Amino acid sequence: MSHGNKQQWILAKRPEGIPDTSEVVFQEAPIPETGPGMLLVKNHYISLDPAIRGWMSDIPNYLPPIPIGDPVRATVVGEVLESGADHIKPGDYVFGLGGWETHSTIPVDFCTPVPADNTFPLHYYVNILGAVGLTPYFAIADVGGAQAGQTMLMSAAAGAVGSVGGQIAKLMGLKVVGIAGTDEKCRWVVDELGFDDCINYRTAGDMEAAIRAACPEGVDFYFDNVGGEILDAALMNMNKDSTLLFCGTISTYNATGPVPGPYNYWQILARTITVKGYLVSDHYHRIAEGQAALSQWVKADQLKFREHINEGIENCLDTYNLLFSGGNEGKLMLKL
Ligand SMILES: NC(=O)c1ccc[n+]([C@@H]2O[C@H](COP(=O)([O-])OP(=O)(O)OC[C@H]3O[C@@H](n4cnc5c(N)ncnc54)[C@H](OP(=O)(O)O)[C@@H]3O)[C@@H](O)[C@H]2O)c1
Repeated sequence: MSHGNKQQWILAKRPEGIPDTSEVVFQEAPIPETGPGMLLVKNHYISLDPAIRGWMSDIPNYLPPIPIGDPVRATVVGEVLESGADHIKPGDYVFGLGGWETHSTIPVDFCTPVPADNTFPLHYYVNILGAVGLTPYFAIADVGGAQAGQTMLMSAAAGAVGSVGGQIAKLMGLKVVGIAGTDEKCRWVVDELGFDDCINYRTAGDMEAAIRAACPEGVDFYFDNVGGEILDAALMNMNKDSTLLFCGTISTYNATGPVPGPYNYWQILARTITVKGYLVSDHYHRIAEGQAALSQWVKADQLKFREHINEGIENCLDTYNLLFSGGNEGKLMLKL
């Protein structure tokens, strides 16, 4: 039986810097047969995550590089059209690891069913009930050991993970200071999300001094999403025995040469800082627990979040690159 064609973005070559259309190419391709253990999913939403940029490169990572010629890998949520597994039927909805394409053929082990009694919009499963909520949910208390009364510094604070993480920390009783790239983003996290303060890193000038002014008591927990110069400025403000949770380093994802380590690396020793590399996927065996907690907070209006949803598979690459200019306001997704 012919399945017709799908539209997709494939990785034609490894990007140098911000990916462009010579490296990531839009094409039509036949939809393959759905073999045993596989699902054919009609994608409704594609999650556009900074991590995808790392998977495009041929460097050691927690997932293998995207093979040249394959669709760009991404988390998707959609409707099952055909199932090669007993427990999932056509018409069910699933979220899992698909790609930048209208249809994905996905191993069933890489998919999680959307609960049949779900009352949330479908795209929440690639947003607040997906990595956006689960990342800070496991990172802050369980992995980072955050305690009420501590001071947290959060970079990319108005982004998807940072904005939710800051609110979770506030719910736990921490003081939270954000760092973001526009005055409007800073205003949003303070006035509407309840952060205690927020520094615009593009206008602050001396970031070390700006962090010191916002956190005169020092930083107990730095939730780092950006790395680079902001990390160096944060290191100079960390307290003794503080925690640096290394969640991401988006300032270096498009680097075309070797990335220098933190210039202030010595401060990790001088201040006996615990540095924790963190991967949300290590905690996916607890996904139901995380989603239950996040659902409660969302229903109680205790977690607010912004969604930046563009439409149309042909707009995937341009939309994706908003992540690196700060052009996204909240969780970046593509609707198909
Ligand atoms: N470890 C894990 O398991 C895990 C899971 C999910 C996400 N992450 C990481 O979490 C971070 C945030 O991801 P997200 O999906 O929530 O994206 P996001 O924060 O919604 O979007 C990325 C934001 O990063 C900021 N940014 C971009 N370039 C920057 C630079 N050079 N310096 C400072 N800030 C910059 C921009 O905001 P401004 O306007 O404020 O600059 C941009 O809006 C990423 O590093 C990602 O890799 C890690």
